[in-house]
Amino acid sequence: MNVLVTGATGTDGCRGVDGLRDAPDVTVAAASRHPARARDRLNCATVAFDFTDPTSYRDAFADVDAMFLVRPPALSRVRRDVVPALAAAVGAGVERVVFLSVIGADRNPLVPHARIESWLADAGLETTFLRASFFMQNLSTTHREEIRDGRLAVPAGDGKTSLVEARDVAAVAVRALCEGITGASDLTGPDALSYAEVCAVLSAALEREVEYTAPSLPRFLISRYRLEGNLAKTGVMAAIYTTARLGLANRVTDDVRSLLGRPPTDFRTFVRDNRTVWT
Ligand SMILES: NC(=O)c1ccc[n+]([C@@H]2O[C@H](COP(=O)([O-])OP(=O)(O)OC[C@H]3O[C@@H](n4cnc5c(N)ncnc54)[C@H](OP(=O)(O)O)[C@@H]3O)[C@@H](O)[C@H]2O)c1
Repeated sequence: MNVLVTGATGTDGCRGVDGLRDAPDVTVAAASRHPARARDRLNCATVAFDFTDPTSYRDAFADVDAMFLVRPPALSRVRRDVVPALAAAVGAGVERVVFLSVIGADRNPLVPHARIESWLADAGLETTFLRASFFMQNLSTTHREEIRDGRLAVPAGDGKTSLVEARDVAAVAVRALCEGITGASDLTGPDALSYAEVCAVLSAALEREVEYTAPSLPRFLISRYRLEGNLAKTGVMAAIYTTARLGLANRVTDDVRSLLGRPPTDFRTFVRDNRTVWT
């Protein structure tokens, strides 16, 4: 089976590539806008691919049987920026798609993932929707610098989030691709934590205080925009943490355990395994 991974250099895509590289009877190719750089990093075949560049579709989808579809977060205009590539994939003979979706996509038609799920379901493909909770890795990437500096400023109040390890999500994707598991699942960690609890775990593991400052939404928007210089990304972050503050991100499921046959990774283990990132 020839599998193409989009978003292959990103947080979950690269972990999917790692799992597929070792899978029997699978040939994996990583899709990237910068294939030479991706090849050095991922140690697998790469192909030039840009969702927004139709000239890249033909080579990218040639001989592909299945796809691990990771949507670039910046592409939120699904009909314009994502659907043309999906239509080309179907036209080229791709039969199976495992899509990295987001938890709640089945209840919130406003998120781009809901529109992609709906398009894929209508396209007559074998589909698997992995509706993942918030990745633990956001704390080791997006929030790394501030945690290094001893604080975490997100407008989530006391709300809890069922943080999931991206590696677990990728492992489910690999299993779904290799074993033909279809349907939808909600992938979370083993428990839901407030950001005060997140900071307590970080403080204990790093042996220094990481303070949770819980800014108001306007304060967060201003300071984060200054830092990111990216209004769309700041807006998405604000929406995610507001969802947590409203108590809508705390649902814990058993889906990782039932799909992998082992418990999901807990946050303490994630921090212990990655502590050098913040030191
Ligand atoms: N982060 C979370 O907590 C979380 C949780 C659940 C679901 N999700 C979903 O997971 C998806 C990935 O999110 P992420 O934050 O993890 O992303 P990410 O790791 O930052 O990955 C972005 C990837 O998109 C690729 N990319 C960017 N623009 C592209 C384009 N025009 N054409 C082709 N590839 C392009 C980049 O590859 P190149 O630069 O190599 O081209 C990169 O590999 C999103 O749909 C997000 O909503 C995220």
